[in-house]
Amino acid sequence: MEFYEVIKTRRSIRSYSPEPIPEDKLRRVLEAARIAPSGANRQPWKFIVVRDEDLKKKVAEACNHQTFISEAPVVIVACGRDIGYNRGGYMGSLSMVVDVTIAMTHLILAARAEGLGTCWIGAFNNDELKKVLDIPPEYNVVAITPLGYPKGEAFTSSMSRKSLEEIVCYEKFA
Ligand SMILES: Cc1cc2nc3c(=O)[nH]c(=O)nc-3n(C[C@H](O)[C@H](O)[C@H](O)COP(=O)(O)O)c2cc1C
Repeated sequence: MEFYEVIKTRRSIRSYSPEPIPEDKLRRVLEAARIAPSGANRQPWKFIVVRDEDLKKKVAEACNHQTFISEAPVVIVACGRDIGYNRGGYMGSLSMVVDVTIAMTHLILAARAEGLGTCWIGAFNNDELKKVLDIPPEYNVVAITPLGYPKGEAFTSSMSRKSLEEIVCYEKFA
């Protein structure tokens, strides 16, 4: 699939078919996350692939009970290791959030190229997820996505975004 077609047609998918994801597709999607760039090439991430029905339900519960998450055959929980510093200054230990977010974006766009749906989930209880998935203390959850074939029509809904004029300025902030 052509790159601009991928980014223009990605949508948050909130309804999933139970159809399993072929292993080769899943592998390519994970590979897209693996090759993402990160500060000093630290790669401070871990992607938990959750397929167990009971665990998926517990993950969905820890995401403000967003039950559609567990409809998908796979749920990906992206975690980052706290590296405690950042040469760019104010971000400090949050810098791993930048790294993991880039990798998760690779994953989400690769999923679209494979005809799979995703939905970035930012509403979750980190402590609860750490208990449910045995995540060690030095890691925290950065993002989650269900991954699977959309149920019904998908990738076509209208997209509401600010205009370029509103979000871009030149030379200095204006
Ligand atoms: C950081 C972040 C957190 C989000 N959290 C949730 C969430 O918890 N639940 C949900 O259904 N959608 C969530 N979304 C999806 C957004 O609502 C969605 O991306 C936005 O409305 C634009 O729609 P689109 O993804 O279909 O283009 C999140 C998206 C981002 C980037």
